[in-house]
Amino acid sequence: MSTLPSAPNGPAGRETRPAKNGVDKVTVPDILSKKSRGERITCLTAYDYPTARIVDAAGVDIILVGDSLGMVVLGYENTLPVTMDEMLHHTRAVRRGTQRALLVADMPFGSFQLELAEAVANAVRFVKEAGAEAVKFEGGEKRLELVARLVENDIPVMGHIGLTPQSIHALGGFKVQGKTLAAAEQLVRDARAVEAAGAFSLVLESIPTEVAERITRELKVPTIGIGAGAGCDGQVLVWHDLVGLSFGVQPKFARRYADLRAALEQAVRGFVSDVHAGAFPGEAETTHLAPDVREQWLARASK
Ligand code: KIV
Repeated sequence: MSTLPSAPNGPAGRETRPAKNGVDKVTVPDILSKKSRGERITCLTAYDYPTARIVDAAGVDIILVGDSLGMVVLGYENTLPVTMDEMLHHTRAVRRGTQRALLVADMPFGSFQLELAEAVANAVRFVKEAGAEAVKFEGGEKRLELVARLVENDIPVMGHIGLTPQSIHALGGFKVQGKTLAAAEQLVRDARAVEAAGAFSLVLESIPTEVAERITRELKVPTIGIGAGAGCDGQVLVWHDLVGLSFGVQPKFARRYADLRAALEQAVRGFVSDVHAGAFPGEAETTHLAPDVREQWLARASK
């Protein structure tokens, strides 16, 4: 499988896609060719089996096991404490629930800010032990060598620039990036560099739409925006923001398509109230002895 940006126009397009259990599998070349066809790309995060089943069945192109896991599932204050073991564990669960979408795993803080060989070994673990089809990691120009080394070794890479949450201490918090001319130009350089090193796509997080539009125009590989405006080639959202399961402040860029938190709370209140009232379990949820056994049982109990 080629991961080079030239793939969208090459022969490694849709006809090479392996069908798995009759499912039209999304591959890295498919993602590349979507840009050349002007088709928008959808990406959502998932961290567990049932969510992966739902997202996959709904036809999302890319499922990202993001290190946002740390905040939305594990309750950490930021993404920095997330470990390789946690990411591998959740990626495996998502793998089991994903048939069609391209599965991308996020490399956690500390797993790639290392000697090249160690960072490559960590990326290999996502593919070999967890079934990821690509990895994502944060950073622009400073990650070139790693992007190139992984691509050389047939591990497709999704880049991530702009607001890179693993850099919150350096950035001074979760802030929109690229707001000055100099910062915007640096983002363009970062984007070009990540593409030149061989990444097959690039996440643009929390940057002004004008900057995202220019990067999207300049790159051959697709940009996937989150808080980067409508001009990107695709959009990604965090599952918990999409379905109303996140706690704390909802990011300005997120749109809530359902209020599952309210629905789930209502379900739990219903259960508590039914148990208190003796209304659960009811006849439908109850198993009885067969009539002949029941008779003998009751007779025995009355002795
Ligand atoms: O960790 C994550 O979920 C991400 C997306 C927001 C792109 O990096």
